[in-house]
Amino acid sequence: MFKRMQSMQVQAVHSFQAIGPGNHDYRAFIAIHNTNLGPALGGCRCLHYAHEQLALDDAMRLAQGMSYKAALAKVPQGGGKSVILLPNKLAPAEVDREFLFSWFGQCVEQLNGQYITAMDVGTQVSDMDIIAKQTVHVASASNIGDPAPATAQGVMTGIKAALDFYFSTNSLAEYSSKRFVIQGLGHVGWRVAQQLRQLGADVIAADPDKEKCQQAHALGIKIVDAEDVLSQTCDVLVPCALGGVIDDDIINQLDCKIIAGSANNQLAHEGIAEELAARKILYTPDYIINAGGLIFASDQYHRLQACDKNAVETSYSDKVESIYQTLMEVFKLAKVQGKNINQVANELALRRLALGLDKSDTLSSSNKVSMATKGNVYDAA
Ligand code: NAI
Repeated sequence: MFKRMQSMQVQAVHSFQAIGPGNHDYRAFIAIHNTNLGPALGGCRCLHYAHEQLALDDAMRLAQGMSYKAALAKVPQGGGKSVILLPNKLAPAEVDREFLFSWFGQCVEQLNGQYITAMDVGTQVSDMDIIAKQTVHVASASNIGDPAPATAQGVMTGIKAALDFYFSTNSLAEYSSKRFVIQGLGHVGWRVAQQLRQLGADVIAADPDKEKCQQAHALGIKIVDAEDVLSQTCDVLVPCALGGVIDDDIINQLDCKIIAGSANNQLAHEGIAEELAARKILYTPDYIINAGGLIFASDQYHRLQACDKNAVETSYSDKVESIYQTLMEVFKLAKVQGKNINQVANELALRRLALGLDKSDTLSSSNKVSMATKGNVYDAA
């Protein structure tokens, strides 16, 4: 475990166990990747894992991703993530959630605010409300609200940055001449679909949920089968469903100029970023474009901690808009340095983690990238 921690630069991993109702054995890991920018914030996954090493790896990998996300969004939080291993013989519906999340809330409380938990795969707002009875260090209980509108705002901002960079124009007037393909019409994807339609864009979408598809159809959105969605011809592919969707098979079928969506960990592996660059597909790193939810959660958490609704100005919307600038700088650095976009983003995140938010204020300061740079390796032929 220590080798793995060292290679991922994880600061600490806390492990907890308890015997719950029915003599079931509950285990949890809380991984804290880096707290240089502030206390670690990240969701709690509650799943069955085939082996506890897989759960540990998941926690560490996701905690690292949260550090990078916070650093590039200039959010004063570190990266952390927790996983609860559901007992293998117990179906999720049979879990005593009152017991489980009360216990997990106590685990979080033991860390004295070094880790702030939130919702993730397998957890819901009602679980967070149970945790909130045990600790104040929770950022997605019902008193905070849904982060999806902020995430969707960030995706729209990111799409605009990608269009402006790719086509070297101000894209606002051009949505009506562009085609967008959205995978997943959930909390984020649906909002993005609505906003794109309001801008007059041609939108195609897929979701296994028939009701969502009917609602989208009523907005003038063309619906395609979920299996065919990624290979549609379009300007912008917007993955808002699952992780790992851009893999070695699908990359040969892509017919888009830009990939810009909210789904976490869209690339199946790091090598895909290089492949996308070679194919002149502009990829917006998922952890930059989907940071709106984190920005919102951190902002609301600090507002609540201040115990006064007016004490901390809620400025998350402006911060979400700054995703535009961050992406532009990353795109330009990638061009100037001849590196793929993911690599540049990772290097910048590491730099911010090392120097702090103030000293690394301008991402590109040491590289003297002109903000006036026009044209790029992704220019349409
Ligand atoms: P959601 O669960 O509300 O929506 C996902 C949608 O994708 C569902 O409607 C589902 O039916 C659909 N879907 C599942 N498999 C599909 C497939 N093969 N093809 C097409 N659609 C499929 O999730 P939400 O909140 O909208 O998040 C979307 C993505 O963005 C997730 O990967 C999530 O981790 C990520 N994300 C979400 C944030 C938020 O604030 N909600 C914040 C940061 C990341």
